[in-house]
Amino acid sequence: MPTTLTQTTSGIDLAWVRSQFPSLSQTVNGQPVVFLDGPGGTQVPQRVIDAMSDYLRHNNANTGGAYATSRNTDAMIASARMAMAEFLGCAADEIVFGPNMTSLTYAMSRSIGRELGAGDEIVLTHLDHDANISPWRALEERGVVIRMADIREEDCTLDMEDLARKISDRTKLVAVGYASNAVGTINDVQEIVRLAHARGALAYIDAVHYAPHGPIDVRALDCDFLVCSTYKFFGPHMGVLFGKPEHLQRLQPYKVRANTNAIPNRWEWGTLNHECIAGTAACIDYLADLGRHVSPSVSSRRSSTLAAYEAIQRHEHELMTALIQGLLEIPRLKLYGIRDPKQFRQRCPTVAARIQGFTPLQLATRLGERGIFTWDGNYYALNLTERLDVEKDGGFLRIGIAHYNTAEEIERLLASLKQIVAA
Ligand SMILES: Cc1ncc(COP(=O)(O)O)c(C=O)c1O
Repeated sequence: MPTTLTQTTSGIDLAWVRSQFPSLSQTVNGQPVVFLDGPGGTQVPQRVIDAMSDYLRHNNANTGGAYATSRNTDAMIASARMAMAEFLGCAADEIVFGPNMTSLTYAMSRSIGRELGAGDEIVLTHLDHDANISPWRALEERGVVIRMADIREEDCTLDMEDLARKISDRTKLVAVGYASNAVGTINDVQEIVRLAHARGALAYIDAVHYAPHGPIDVRALDCDFLVCSTYKFFGPHMGVLFGKPEHLQRLQPYKVRANTNAIPNRWEWGTLNHECIAGTAACIDYLADLGRHVSPSVSSRRSSTLAAYEAIQRHEHELMTALIQGLLEIPRLKLYGIRDPKQFRQRCPTVAARIQGFTPLQLATRLGERGIFTWDGNYYALNLTERLDVEKDGGFLRIGIAHYNTAEEIERLLASLKQIVAA
């Protein structure tokens, strides 16, 4: 029996979830909008909007001033940093705020590059977003050698044997995504960190795509750096970097003299986006509240967030199973990535497909006219679209499920795709 807006077998209270996100009630061409564009950026709960406008209305000021709004700004940033630290499972001074993941990664790659020279190696993967490739490739100008780990083409998982072979005593850094923003594969990050450390290399993890779908514990991963973007997990447009304190202290940032040398602020240049930081704290509160909603006995913010992710994963798993089953029934459709339900724990609910006779742009445009928002192209996972030889033909159609999506929305997408293909 199909589930309805308020009924799910996963235990998530979708009516409550959806009531938190005002944008979900919009219509396009008379049709309710279906947001399947989460991998490009998720919708935000009302409390994020309120926190941002409340900050601008009452506390808009620069930091470090001897007056009330500036002190309130300092306190707000400290408390948002604490919230973010609890979210990633680390200490507050290990959290660096920045404009987005790409800028933070460029900044870090410049500083790590100061310690590297000719013959040193960096290992990257074909599965990654270009933001975890180009900043490292830029170090080739110093003579650094880039080695690319391959994928297993049949299911777009990382070829771990190839990765292990490419990590050697010359490797200084392994940069890898937690999950692919194109085909949804979740990598065995813990094992990759172990492989990197066994050869004395640093491990840099891009968790941008994973963060809306699963809990992150940087201590358990033992990674040296991990980056994510709050706009992909229900917050405003901003990036966050975790770094082990010994690296944040040792590495030399490119910074102005007047900025402090204390961590984490020595990595935060110029004036930060205060209203987004206020929104970020509110988005973590939303996730914790969702956890309390599904599991009223949980107490701390971290354990509430973990409870939220358990419910999110159950719900997304249900929707993903229905989506992939339905897509595989569509004639001439090729699905990229893991298709076997037994392996669904190794993928996010982000699905890439092509349908013979249509470009991904044509499909996304026709779905968009029906109020169903998907994405087309390479979404900057350029190495993957080139590796799979689909770049020249417009990449993939990407359907990205978030926890606020419903079974009806998946049915509407599948019915619309079937109509488009049959027309
Ligand atoms: C997996 C992944 N990494 C990195 C990025 C870049 O993030 P940002 O826009 O915060 O620079 C994205 C953005 O789509 C992404 O999906």
